[in-house]
This record gives sequence, structure tokens and C-alpha cells, in this order.
Amino acid sequence: MKLKLFIEKNRGLLMWVLFGGTIVIVFLLGLLAASVNERRAEIATLFSNKRVEITGIESRNEIWGENYPREYETWQKTADTTFESKHNGNVVKDVLEMRPEMVVLWAGYAFSQDYSSPRGHMHALDDMRNSLRTGAPMTPEEGPQPATCWACKSPDVPRMMADVGIENFYSKKWAAFGHEIVNPVGCADCHNPQNMNINISRPALAEAYERMGMDIGKSSIQELRSLACAQCHVEYYFKGDGKYLTFPWDKGMTVETMEEYYDEAGFTDWTHKLSKTPMLKAQHPDYELFKLGPHAQRGLSCADCHMPYKTDGAIKYSDHQLVSPLLNIDRTCLSCHRDTKENLMKYVYEYQDKVLEIRDRVEKELVKAHVEAKYAWDNGANEKQMEPVLKLLRAAQWRWDFAVASHGASFHAPVETQRIMAHALDKSYQAQLEAKKVLEVLGVTGEVPMPDISTKEKAQKYIGLDMKDLREKKEVFNSTIIPQWIEKAKSSKKLL
Ligand code: HEC
Ligand code: HEC
Ligand code: HEC
Ligand code: HEC
Repeated sequence: MKLKLFIEKNRGLLMWVLFGGTIVIVFLLGLLAASVNERRAEIATLFSNKRVEITGIESRNEIWGENYPREYETWQKTADTTFESKHNGNVVKDVLEMRPEMVVLWAGYAFSQDYSSPRGHMHALDDMRNSLRTGAPMTPEEGPQPATCWACKSPDVPRMMADVGIENFYSKKWAAFGHEIVNPVGCADCHNPQNMNINISRPALAEAYERMGMDIGKSSIQELRSLACAQCHVEYYFKGDGKYLTFPWDKGMTVETMEEYYDEAGFTDWTHKLSKTPMLKAQHPDYELFKLGPHAQRGLSCADCHMPYKTDGAIKYSDHQLVSPLLNIDRTCLSCHRDTKENLMKYVYEYQDKVLEIRDRVEKELVKAHVEAKYAWDNGANEKQMEPVLKLLRAAQWRWDFAVASHGASFHAPVETQRIMAHALDKSYQAQLEAKKVLEVLGVTGEVPMPDISTKEKAQKYIGLDMKDLREKKEVFNSTIIPQWIEKAKSSKKLL
């Protein structure tokens, strides 16, 4: 009532505040647009300094570096691994060690073996080769992974696709291209060498647009400053036996519409080893979640925070060290916000802490639900009885993973991420309730025994992983196959 009275009394004043606020926002966005346009003009002058002519798909970043030394040098800095923020940064952390619950959540899937926090683009290939998830294929035909896994790691991917055909590329095994895919995420992933415009090099993104009835070729520059990233930082899956890389956006880009897409397609990433649930693994829906947040809705793009402008004398250029924007607050947040560094940092951490608070609860309750479901199976439950439990488990874990796997989401779209987490928690409890009902029907009473999963090792032992064997095989692969790949690439000049 008091508020209503206040509004009525001060209607005039409030209208002015609203009006003023709108002007400020429009002004800020105007500045942004003006600065982008001004930049285009400056770029034109850069072309007169071209030293080498780049033709075709040039995946060797060093060659581009000849023409664009500033962008190249900052791109090289993605090799840095010294920046740590409260929850992110480029220091590698063993996530399974920090949160052993995840081992149980991914039981039966390669992520339960090995999962480290991401770091800069320069490490994309090394991290992939070294991960236990890619296994130890000793021949080009051996698995476990398909060539599709290379798709978001290197500019050699569009080069090879042009060479062998898109479908043919995806349908091979990962090891088939080890000696070809050797340059980490770089210039040809995002640029057309003729005019340095942003170029969408990945067919999966253009195809997803087409199925949504949109033409990606009609995107504005500001949209392309996000779409460049949406080639990789998105949710995707490997469709059919040909493992065709596909974005599940046909019904929309929210957690629910993508789930509907997968449910209708009858798609399953793997069957959970304990609960036998047909599971979905979320990848990293950074782009989709970002779009639902306050900054995207005010017209910002990824590059506005992750590629801030830098100056070198009179030349202004885009910082190509793609990293947490907290490393350069004065050039990122502070280029738009009049606030203190401390406050801006605090906003980010507050959003993150609030989401992570619920995340930690979800992980514990989800583990319980999987273990209870296993207990029901062990006590003779049948498929019909288990159906509602598994349905809830699939939905709960999909939501948890979707929100967690997008590492920036708790800041990019705090409200949406909290909403998703809340549903994940709700569905985890519902799954537990349904599992208890099944146990009751089976006449099983008392507490369901819970395993000791207080460390990564204990959790991996509980789900039946032979880590020693996996590591030994990987070491053989690392010391024999990888040096062969590198040598072959060097002698064919694919790698400089
Ligand atoms: C992940 C995508 C991505 C990669 C990889 C990338 N760029 Fe860029 N680059 C961009 C974006 C986004 C812009 C800003 C475009 C705009 O605003 O029109 C940009 C701008 C540029 C420009 C225009 C001038 C400027 O600095 O704004 C040059 C030149 C350039 N990049 C060179 C390179 C070189 C050289 C490499 C490889 C070492 C590279 N880029 C790798 C996304 C990328
Ligand atoms: C060709 C695929 C690809 C493109 C395009 C791409 N990324 Fe990445 N990005 C990756 C991969 C793969 C990693 C993880 C590398 C690792 O951990 O070894 C990564 C990691 C990152 C990280 C984490 C770095 C850290 O220090 O932890 C950030 C931030 C990031 N990317 C931002 C962007 C932005 C912004 C764009 C668009 C301008 C973009 N990326 C475009 C594939 C890509
Ligand atoms: C308004 C600024 C802003 C925009 C725009 C933005 N981000 Fe971020 N991003 C952040 C902040 C802040 C973090 C959290 C960094 C931290 O915790 O250190 C972050 C984190 C990330 C991370 C995880 C980084 C890490 O160290 O592991 C990735 C990946 C990422 N963003 C990608 C993107 C992509 C892709 C887009 C566009 C679709 C985008 N961001 C748009 C501010 C932004
Ligand atoms: C290119 C300009 C730009 C950059 C860079 C930028 N912001 Fe913003 N930010 C905006 C605009 C515009 C809004 C919306 C303002 C409004 O509605 O009052 C906003 C809103 C916010 C809000 C309020 C969000 C909400 O829920 O409405 C926070 C918090 C914020 N920004 C923090 C940051 C931080 C932290 C960074 C750096 C990582 C950053 N911003 C970088 C332009 C920017």
C-alpha cells in the first residue's frame, strides 16, 4: 500500500527517472555501435600493410601473424595459465577431484574418467589429446571417439572438410586425422582472409540456422561478434551412425525446447551405469544461455567483454586473448559501467555464488537418486516400475548439466541459470520420491545404503573404473602415437 501511495505521489518524478534511464541506455548502445563502425574504418587502413597473400583455408596461424602481428600476439597469450578468478580462470583444475559426485553422475560415460576445467584456445589440441576421454587408439580406425570430436578444436577442421567432404569427415574415427589436425583454434576458424570479415567456417551452425528458417549470411556485424563463438560454445550432438555434428535448435534454444527435441528424436548419449537411465550429456550451451541474459538483451556480443579493444599508439585493435573478462576489468566492464572495479567483481561473484550454492545441493541429491534407483533394480524392480524414476532422473540431470557445463552462465544469464537449477533440484527430489515408492512396493524398508564417494578415487572405484589400466594405455599412446602425428604434420608443413 505504501509503495502504491509513493508511486501515485511521485508519478511525475518517476516518469522522469525512467525517461532519463532510457536515454542513458540508448546513449551507451549508441556509443557501442559507433565504436564498432569506427573500427571498421580503421581496419581498412590495416590492409595496406599486408605482407603475405593468404588464399584458401590457411590453418597455420603463424602465416596470418605476418599480416596482423597485434592480433596474433594477443592470440598467443591464450597460452597463459596464470589467471585465477574466484570460480574460473585459465589454471587447470581437476574438477572430479573437487566434486567427486560428478564421477557418479557420469557413471558409464567417459567424463567420469577425466574432466578438467577449460583453459585458453592455444591448449585446445593438447588438452584433447591428453584427456583420458579420447582413449588410446593405436591405429587410425580405432575408437573410442569419432572425428566429430575435432570439430571445435582447430582451423584444420574446415580445411579437412573441404578436402574430404563434411559427411565423410564426421564418419571417420578421431585417430584418422591426428596428423592433419595440428593447429589450435585460430584465425581461419573465424576470418575470411580476403577482407578479414567474420566467416562462419563450421557447417553445423549455418545448417542449424537454415533449419530455423534463417540465413546466417544476413547477420549483422554485431551478431557475428557472437556467432563466431557460437560455432563451438553451444549445445550439440552427434546425429546418427555418421556422427553428423548437429545443434538441437529446431524447436528453440531453451533447456526445455532442446530436451523436447532430444526426447522426440529418441536420442540418448549413454545409459547410466547405476540407475540404467537413458541419459543426455549437455555440452556447453554458452551462446544459448547468454542470449537469455541482461547483456545480450541490451544488444551486447561475446566480443564486447571477451575481446576488448586495446591500443598500440594510434592503432586500436581487438584483444585476441580470449579469457575471463575479469583479467582486464578496466577494458571490459569499465568501458561501459561507471562503477568501481571492486563492485563489478562483486556483482560477478555474487551471481556465481548464488547459483553454485544450489548446484552443490543438486549434485548431492542427484547422486542419491541414482543410487536409490540402482538399489531398486538390485531388489528386483522391473522396467515398468522404474519408468517414472528414470524419466525424472534424465530430466533432472539434463538441467543440472546444462547450467553447469556453460561455465560463464551464472554471470551471463543469472536468472535463467537459477531457474534451471531450481528445476534440477525439484526433479532430483521427485526422482527420489518415485524410487522410494518402487522400493515400498517391493517391500524393501529402511535407509538405502550410500557409498563413500568422498574422493575422486573412491568414487571411481565405486562405479567400477580401472583407472590404472586406462592411464597406462594412455601413456603408451602419448609417447608413441602423438610424436608420430606431430612429426608427420611437420614434414608435410601442415604444422610450422
Ligand atoms: C574465435 C574467433 C576469432 C579468432 C580465432 C580470431 N579472430 Fe580476429 N576477430 C574476431 C572478432 C570477433 C573480431 C572483431 C570483428 C568486428 O568487430 O568486426 C576480430 C577482429 C580481427 C581483426 C580486425 C582488427 C581488429 O583487431 O579488430 C583482425 C586483423 C583479426 N581479427 C586478426 C586475427 C588473426 C591474425 C587471428 C589469428 C591469430 C584471429 N584474428 C583469430 C574473432 C576471431
Ligand atoms: C573452433 C572452436 C572455438 C571457437 C570458434 C571459440 N572457442 Fe572458445 N574455446 C574452445 C575450446 C575447445 C576451449 C577449451 C580449450 C581447453 O580447455 O583446452 C575454449 C575455451 C574458451 C575460454 C576459456 C578460456 C580460459 O581461460 O579458461 C573462453 C573464455 C572462450 N573459449 C571464449 C570464446 C569466445 C568469446 C569466442 C568467440 C569470440 C570463442 N571462445 C570461440 C573452442 C572455441
Ligand atoms: C557482459 C560481459 C560478457 C559477455 C558479453 C560475455 N561474457 Fe562470457 N563471461 C563474462 C564473465 C564476467 C565471466 C566469468 C569470468 C570468471 O568467473 O572469471 C564469463 C565467463 C565465460 C566463460 C568461462 C571462462 C572460464 O574462465 O572458464 C566462457 C567460455 C564465456 N564466458 C564465453 C562467452 C561467450 C561464448 C559469450 C557470447 C555468447 C560471452 N561469454 C559473452 C562476461 C561476459
Ligand atoms: C558494452 C557495454 C557493457 C559492457 C562491456 C559490460 N556491460 Fe554490464 N551492462 C550493460 C548494459 C547496457 C546493461 C543494462 C543496463 C540497464 O538496463 O540499466 C548492463 C547491465 C549490467 C548489470 C545489471 C544486470 C541486470 O540484471 O539487469 C550488471 C551487474 C553488469 N552489467 C555487470 C557487468 C560486468 C561485471 C561487466 C564486465 C564483465 C559488464 N557488465 C560489462 C553494458 C555493458
